[in-house]
Amino acid sequence: MSAQIINGKDLAQELRLEMKEEVVKLKDTGVNPNLTVILVGDNPASRSYVKGKEKASAQVGIQSEVIELSSSVTEEKLLEIIHKLNEDPSVHGILVQLPLPDHIHEQHIIEAISPTKDVDGFHPINIGRMMTGQDTFLPCTPFGIITMLKSKSIPIAGKHVVIIGRSNIVGKPVGQLLLNENATVTHCHSRTSNLKEYTTKADILIVAIGKPNIIDKEYLKANAVVIDVGINRLDNGSLTGDVDFDSAASKASYITPVPKGVGPMTIAMLLHNTIKAAKGLT
Ligand code: GUN
Repeated sequence: MSAQIINGKDLAQELRLEMKEEVVKLKDTGVNPNLTVILVGDNPASRSYVKGKEKASAQVGIQSEVIELSSSVTEEKLLEIIHKLNEDPSVHGILVQLPLPDHIHEQHIIEAISPTKDVDGFHPINIGRMMTGQDTFLPCTPFGIITMLKSKSIPIAGKHVVIIGRSNIVGKPVGQLLLNENATVTHCHSRTSNLKEYTTKADILIVAIGKPNIIDKEYLKANAVVIDVGINRLDNGSLTGDVDFDSAASKASYITPVPKGVGPMTIAMLLHNTIKAAKGLT
């Protein structure tokens, strides 16, 4: 293996220690940061992500509340709960864990959350602010990816970044953030023909496809930086990314592992956004 590993677990731990001190200072001023998470239904992956958010919040002294709702909850009821949380001054951040059951219109829910409490950075007002380069809540996974690149002083400006995946949560916003950092950005997706033609030209390759181990060294330019956003649970229960780690690591200069890569950074950025909300910075 030639690549250096960007360990998101360790970096997230460092950031949490810094945030813990910030929270102590905030509490001294009478502000008790609170993150309220709404979990609808019993999707095991969602439940496990929410547990991770609760645990990380506790580690930095952020109070977290989880509101669990049945999968049959109506959109109206969910909107009513969000409106109450919007009005509650003791709640600083609101996160509705996605995906939601089919009968609930996700975009209605995202747009109901006050932009000042939108710690996911999914509200169109915050997306617009991000696109125009203003200070706002940045979506957590893209923000975590940028933070990982910066932690290793990996140059971004002038570099060619290729992103595979175009979700509203990862693919689209990470491209925008990297464009804000003066990268040249190419978006690939499931309808891209001849994917390799693009990926082999990437200085930085961001893979957010959701299929296990499909990107190997044949897709890489020598010494590329590889960021694996995939979290796939295999039949044997283990977690793996979208990238064939051993193959890619033999050709890349830097690579993120799964687990201990992007996942813990997503949660760290959520805590960052909650502290920002508690400070009333947006
Ligand atoms: N589901 C998967 N990732 C996310 C995320 O970043 N935020 C929310 N709210 N739901 C998710």
